[in-house]
Amino acid sequence: MVLNETLTLSNGVKIPKLGLGTWFIDDDKAADAVCAAVKCGYRLIDTAQAYGNERGVGEGVRKCGIPREKLFVASKVAAEHKTYESAAKSIEETLEKMGLDYLDQMIIHSPQPWVEVNQSENRYVEGNRAAWKALEDAYKAGKIKEIGVSNFQIGDIESLLETAEIKPMVNQVLLHISNTPTELVEYCQKNDIAIEAYSPIAHGEILNQPEIKEVADKYGVSVPQLCIRYAIQLGTIALPKTGNPEHMKTNSEVDFEISEQDMEVLKNFKKIESYGESSGFPVYGGKL
Ligand SMILES: NC(=O)c1ccc[n+]([C@@H]2O[C@H](COP(=O)([O-])OP(=O)(O)OC[C@H]3O[C@@H](n4cnc5c(N)ncnc54)[C@H](OP(=O)(O)O)[C@@H]3O)[C@@H](O)[C@H]2O)c1
Repeated sequence: MVLNETLTLSNGVKIPKLGLGTWFIDDDKAADAVCAAVKCGYRLIDTAQAYGNERGVGEGVRKCGIPREKLFVASKVAAEHKTYESAAKSIEETLEKMGLDYLDQMIIHSPQPWVEVNQSENRYVEGNRAAWKALEDAYKAGKIKEIGVSNFQIGDIESLLETAEIKPMVNQVLLHISNTPTELVEYCQKNDIAIEAYSPIAHGEILNQPEIKEVADKYGVSVPQLCIRYAIQLGTIALPKTGNPEHMKTNSEVDFEISEQDMEVLKNFKKIESYGESSGFPVYGGKL
């Protein structure tokens, strides 16, 4: 069962192959969502400073009835923290807000502050190095078990590696059927940086694609199940979001195999250009 499967990261830490995304789960509903997911068998929970629900996620982690060390709790340093001081302070605030002694994973949310994504050429090389140093220090102090980045392109990673003492262990990127950054995935996997697939169901948008539904029907699965299996079969860690316990359950029932031929079809499926007005994706400039 996929929920019991893990990948081993470059520092030996094991990470579940399937986790629960929590973007758009309100803080006052997050604890219940975490408890429902844990009851269903999920052990990896992904939040971020930017989601405004770290408190609720932390509450869920503390009250779900599973020992802390059996869970994998992940958050992100907000994209706007581009100095050592602000990043380090934000890590302390996350621990405090969540009521936890340590996090399993903390990553830089984006190389650029959100307002500049797709709007500016500035890749914040120095700012990311400073934020990375804060993560390295928290890692060395045992406050975080594993550190990484998110939305980093190959050039962003190479700039970071020039001065990094510790190599990022993961890169969390937008990856779903019809939007697979193959070159980046290959580069990271070759360099022992695990890929986490965020928005594996294309933020819900893929549910409206009849051609994808046809492929799902062929395997006797739902579109979300096809999407999650696709991400896992690429060797990535899938992070579907849902606040619905029934969806949590079916999203974890992905023990089937997509043929190599169909994997190629899905990889090359026409790109979804818009995630819809209400999706929240416009924060990325709508062009991820
Ligand atoms: N690092 C980053 O910059 C970044 C950016 C975006 C997302 N993320 C992470 O990745 C996670 C997932 O991404 P996402 O939230 O954008 O989108 P997603 O997981 O691709 O899609 C979520 C949408 O699909 C629906 N859904 C899920 N399972 C379903 C099912 N079985 N049947 C029908 N609908 C289903 C959800 O609705 P229901 O809740 O009603 O089920 C929700 O509307 C986030 O929560 C976050 O943790 C990270």
